[in-house]
Amino acid sequence: MDRKETDVYLRLDPARLPRHIAIIMDGNGRWARRRHMPRVAGHRAGVAAVRSTVETAARIGIPALTLYAFSEENWKKRPRTEVDFLMRLLCHFLKAEIKTLNQNNIRLKYIGRQHELPKSVQREMEEASTATSQNTGMLLTLALNYSARSEIVDAFRSLADAASRNGGLAHMEVDEQSISDHLYTRGLPDPDLVIRTSGEMRLSNFLLWQLAYAEIYVTQTLWPDFRGVQLLEGIEDYQKRDRRYGGLAPDGNATKHPRRVSSEAKR
Ligand code: FPP
Repeated sequence: MDRKETDVYLRLDPARLPRHIAIIMDGNGRWARRRHMPRVAGHRAGVAAVRSTVETAARIGIPALTLYAFSEENWKKRPRTEVDFLMRLLCHFLKAEIKTLNQNNIRLKYIGRQHELPKSVQREMEEASTATSQNTGMLLTLALNYSARSEIVDAFRSLADAASRNGGLAHMEVDEQSISDHLYTRGLPDPDLVIRTSGEMRLSNFLLWQLAYAEIYVTQTLWPDFRGVQLLEGIEDYQKRDRRYGGLAPDGNATKHPRRVSSEAKR
């Protein structure tokens, strides 16, 4: 950790770290445009941000980190050349990072409609997740060709399938737990904190079910400039929030103190 990271880290309460952090990585295109570079240069620069964020999260003991790398909409609506570039970048990343993931005891998984990705990409993905499957530290989940609405559609299809194999629809149990158990994220705790870079105030079809009670932290930093220290600042902001899940603060007031605005949001 460098000096700045250490300073922020020392202000954190290690007993109240988020169990699961989800990140919407945004702003690669703007980062490149500001430098008069092609959009794909922003994606390439974004890899260093991924590396730094993952390493910091693992080092401080975050149990689960989920990164929104590639949405279903990105896949369908971006030019073929950009999509192809992202696929090549992903394959390169997966090959290059296995060693570091293993050194940091990180297990790699994916969410999204994997079967729609090119076969060669699926093979690299499978190889990287198998190579890290014995690790026992942080679970890193990459959302690739991911859409929260498609995930919910797939969960309902999977619930109905399970029911038809077990006595028919009359036996279908539908409650919050059974829906969670059929989502791509089954077994993972819901994110406590969702971070979005580049100042946009949207969830963009990311983990809509799972983010029901997540704290939202938006930073103006563009994704390629994001590093471990910005992750720690997001966690510091999270630790200042009152999490009430629809209830009251311990003193019985609905609002314990005036709504805190993150230092980033105030800019
Ligand atoms: C959003 O920026 C970013 C993406 C669509 C791709 C995310 C990819 C990376 C961070 C690079 C590599 C990741 C891995 C896991 C290898 P944008 O292009 O929408 O930015 P803009 O809104 O400024 O145009």
